[in-house]
Amino acid sequence: MDKSYKIAIIGGTGKVGRYLASRALENGYQVRMLVRNPAKLSFRDERIEIVEGNVQNLEDIQKLLIDCQVVINSFGQPIREKPIYSN
Ligand SMILES: NC(=O)c1ccc[n+]([C@@H]2O[C@H](COP(=O)([O-])OP(=O)(O)OC[C@H]3O[C@@H](n4cnc5c(N)ncnc54)[C@H](OP(=O)(O)O)[C@@H]3O)[C@@H](O)[C@H]2O)c1
Repeated sequence: MDKSYKIAIIGGTGKVGRYLASRALENGYQVRMLVRNPAKLSFRDERIEIVEGNVQNLEDIQKLLIDCQVVINSFGQPIREKPIYSN
């Protein structure tokens, strides 16, 4: 894959998303993550662009995907929240 690619990651504060973001950076890719609450980010790197938003909001998704060639979705259903998969 072209190393100039920018990878959009949904669920970057989660276990899978965090791992994917760190591996993408290690391999020289650019990373942009959709994050509901940036204060929750336990993994920080100045090379990661953050888009604050919710996967259920189309405008947030559109903002996330600008200039990205790849998108990886790693969101998980939070307990006690409305189902996101069916939506
Ligand atoms: N971990 C594993 O070993 C494993 C194995 C097999 C499959 N999976 C699957 O992989 C997925 C991710 O797993 P995980 O362990 O990384 O889960 P996780 O640690 O619970 O992370 C879930 C991520 O989804 C995000 N998210 C939830 N609702 C969102 C919304 N409305 N908008 C934007 N982001 C939202 C969470 O953001 P917030 O921080 O804002 O809540 C968090 O970043 C799940 O579907 C899981 O079933 C995981």
